[in-house]
Amino acid sequence: MRWLYFLSVWLHVLAAAIWVGGMIFVALVVVPVIRRPELQGAAARLIHFTGVRFRWVGWACFVLLLLTGLVNTLARGIAWGDLLVAQFWAGPFGKLFALKLVVFALILASSAVHDFVIGPRAVAVWQERPGSTEATRLRRQATHLGRLNLFLALLVLALGVMLVRGAP
Ligand code: HEM
Repeated sequence: MRWLYFLSVWLHVLAAAIWVGGMIFVALVVVPVIRRPELQGAAARLIHFTGVRFRWVGWACFVLLLLTGLVNTLARGIAWGDLLVAQFWAGPFGKLFALKLVVFALILASSAVHDFVIGPRAVAVWQERPGSTEATRLRRQATHLGRLNLFLALLVLALGVMLVRGAP
């Protein structure tokens, strides 16, 4: 069981690193690069192809985080039955865990809207009518959702570290 716990935490941290690292790469590298004047003609297509590719990487990470998160929980000796008892959620670990699951649910919701609704619509209008107010509005909405996701990612990371070491 010890090696399974070790493998699960390792995969959990790896999935977190790929997802959070990927979002930071997009924000700090891809977005500034596509703003260069010499790339204006290709910017929308670059964001489209990068976005579609990272979408699948991101959702694969979410599935891995959920599965390894459950294994981590069970490996800590928390049984399914404990999750149905109010006393568990009233304790310090239970409170952090509940908060982490709420933030994870928010991440799934905002990622779904960004990845499958606003993002694709913004890129489609951006390609059809690059200078239109609708393209600008949708791109701004996609950017705001992306930034919200990055903020939630940093929050859930902190909650993960607190789960292991206790709240500061
Ligand atoms: C975006 C989603 C998530 C991220 C970024 C994330 C990140 C992390 C990180 C960084 C740690 C600390 C690892 C360490 O310091 O050793 C951790 C621990 C943990 N996470 Fe997550 N996590 C996520 C989702 C989840 C979910 C959905 C669950 C439960 C279903 C979960 C359950 C746990 C547990 C139980 C631990 C403690 C592991 C241990 O015993 O060492 N996590 N998480």
